[in-house]
Amino acid sequence: MKIINNISEMQNWRNDSAKIAFVPTMGGLHQGHLSLIDLAKKNADKVVVSIFVNPTQFAQHEDFGTYPRTMDADLAALELSPTDLVFIPNTHDIYPDNAVFNQDEFAQDKALFEILCGKSRPHFFYGVLQVVRRLFAIIHPDVAVFGQKDYQQLHIIKHFTSGTEIIGAPIVREDNGLAMSTRNQYLNADEYKIASKLHKILKQIERGELDLQSATEQLQRYFKLDYLELLDANTLKKITDNTSKIAILSAVYLNKVRLIDNIIF
Ligand code: PAF
Repeated sequence: MKIINNISEMQNWRNDSAKIAFVPTMGGLHQGHLSLIDLAKKNADKVVVSIFVNPTQFAQHEDFGTYPRTMDADLAALELSPTDLVFIPNTHDIYPDNAVFNQDEFAQDKALFEILCGKSRPHFFYGVLQVVRRLFAIIHPDVAVFGQKDYQQLHIIKHFTSGTEIIGAPIVREDNGLAMSTRNQYLNADEYKIASKLHKILKQIERGELDLQSATEQLQRYFKLDYLELLDANTLKKITDNTSKIAILSAVYLNKVRLIDNIIF
């Protein structure tokens, strides 16, 4: 497994005819990330993984400073995975222009950036798109794999990137049903148990055992609710007669930890 820190070396490496699959990460790797890498390998000859904690997707009050940085453990896990190359750029190389990102391009589609997670994290998807486009411009992957846990992120990336096939990978869960996330490290043992209620309640909606109102009340017993919505999974708009797939999407706070989850059916 090769490790590259600078852009020109990365671009030189890319100059071959192999089909490249890319898995962007912010490190703090867990089984969920490793499942993305396995899926990437099934879709390409070579797999590139990036580790970069992207400052532009964090608001001032968020956890950029304390976000888990576990480089040694990440590299050890990647060594055992089908990763061919790890790209670990620095912030200056990614954002030589001081990270200015023109949002005008998205004026028509602003709503997509402002619903669901965008309501409480208005900067977030712009920052994600900025870094993903930048990484794509450096790596030129044929395919890129993103987790479906961040369903709105996946949707926005599919809509606003081009030249790379975007593949969504199924959510990987802990034994108790909690969706795997780097931020689960912030949960203590009691919170970890309570956190599993989120998925259980979403499952009850899927099975028709809870309507939206009762599910909201259930979630509020355990969490501070950010949102719970049922939308058309293909458009992230209201369900209509043409809806073929429904997305149940939720974000909640458990003390200071923000959890997100979804079920598509
Ligand atoms: O999902 C993530 O880990 C991040 O948002 C991503 C896609 C790596 C961009 O920084």
